[in-house]
Amino acid sequence: MMELGRDHLPIHLTNLAQRYGSIYRLICGNTTIVVLSSSEVIREALVKKWSDFAGRPDSFTGSIVSAGCSISLGDYTEVWRAHRRMVHSALQRCCQKSLHEVIERHALRMRRVLMDYKGTAVDLSEDFTVAASNVITTLAFGKEYDKSSLELQQLHSCLNEIVALWGSSWISALDSFPLLRKLPNPVFARLLKEVVRRDDIIQKHLSDYKVGMKTMILKVVMSMLTHTHVHMATVDLLIGGTETTAAWLNWTIAFLLHRPEVQSRVYEELCTVLDGQYPKYSDRHRLPVLNALIHEVLRLRPVAPLAVPHRAIRDSSIAGYFIPKNTVIIPNLFGAHHDPAVWPDPYSFRPERFLEGGGSTRALFPFGGGARLCLGESVAKMELFLFTAYLLRDFEFVLPDKVPAPDLKGVASVVLKVKPFKVIALPRLGHCS
Ligand code: HEM
Repeated sequence: MMELGRDHLPIHLTNLAQRYGSIYRLICGNTTIVVLSSSEVIREALVKKWSDFAGRPDSFTGSIVSAGCSISLGDYTEVWRAHRRMVHSALQRCCQKSLHEVIERHALRMRRVLMDYKGTAVDLSEDFTVAASNVITTLAFGKEYDKSSLELQQLHSCLNEIVALWGSSWISALDSFPLLRKLPNPVFARLLKEVVRRDDIIQKHLSDYKVGMKTMILKVVMSMLTHTHVHMATVDLLIGGTETTAAWLNWTIAFLLHRPEVQSRVYEELCTVLDGQYPKYSDRHRLPVLNALIHEVLRLRPVAPLAVPHRAIRDSSIAGYFIPKNTVIIPNLFGAHHDPAVWPDPYSFRPERFLEGGGSTRALFPFGGGARLCLGESVAKMELFLFTAYLLRDFEFVLPDKVPAPDLKGVASVVLKVKPFKVIALPRLGHCS
């Protein structure tokens, strides 16, 4: 297992599915893991039998990282359900009231940053992280930051470090092989240090918030749950909502550099349908080419490619196979999105498949499903749509001279990211003329 993880775990698990089928079992130390790699088996487990598979594995390192109170790593209990419901309804309220305006503001801010590059070749990943993270920090603390802000840099370096360490085999080995916990482990020591740092930073933000007491997402949550629940909900939203959206934007630009004609088609559609205006989220049904692009990038690079592991909370079955209680389930979303039985030519970037009837969004699971469906799905969908529309309306993305198009294999950890690349954002002056 550790050997497989060294390179690109989603690809390895998908290759194994070609040999052993869309459902197979791995034994890892004292843990039995069942990997699901087609949309049918994923739907059966996550949606149809959601109440059987809504648990999270009990993990030694997970309980340390989550203080026993996080939504993403917490097991399916009454308190967990109340916690999730509360944060979900607060997010829904934001979506209805202010999210659109918040995303528009940060899209325009990103536009100004890109304009300031004046056509030089740059790596945009940090700008995408700042935009995605500003949406969450605006909702959570009513605060937004510049790329140069020390506070933002501290927050991100800490959260990124936790996610990176968490995805490392040095850490996952501690969950599977308890004896290893007795040995010195410098990676684990670093993780513990970063968790303390994270808690100090979030604590400071929340105290500032309490002083300001503005109208924000946590006001509702604060009145109903313990301080630790509020704290961990903030961490969940920041971790879940920053690197995912930013990685997706980066993938979109990387794929478009391989097929510039797709970029032109989206631009023409934006110009024709909206007459040069920026779109509203309610315009999405009028922009099929843009939607096809979004779906195709979500299909090819689901940024959480293996979701988050689930646990069977009772004896059950998937595809007729008996699944005992406590089995760990890995929904291999990457595998399902590359299933040749569903997606002709599955490894090619062809947004047009969604326009020609060759791609059904029913077989897409980029946000998981059922009781553990991504909590930020509605936020993410609005962000992907508006950020992409604003970027492609205002800029043409081109490769620097003599530079090859980005490597599309990616680096897979908890989040699947594209390798760093530079791009030129050429302003489209005289919109849609
Ligand atoms: C969980 C995908 C953006 C917050 C997940 C899961 C996936 C996912 C696959 C795991 C589902 C499972 O366990 O079966 C994505 C993608 C995103 C995105 C593809 C953007 C492109 C966001 C955003 C937020 C967020 C913007 C916050 C505003 C969360 C949380 C969970 C989660 C809190 C844990 C849910 C739970 O365990 O019940 N996401 N996500 N995500 N996501 Fe997202």
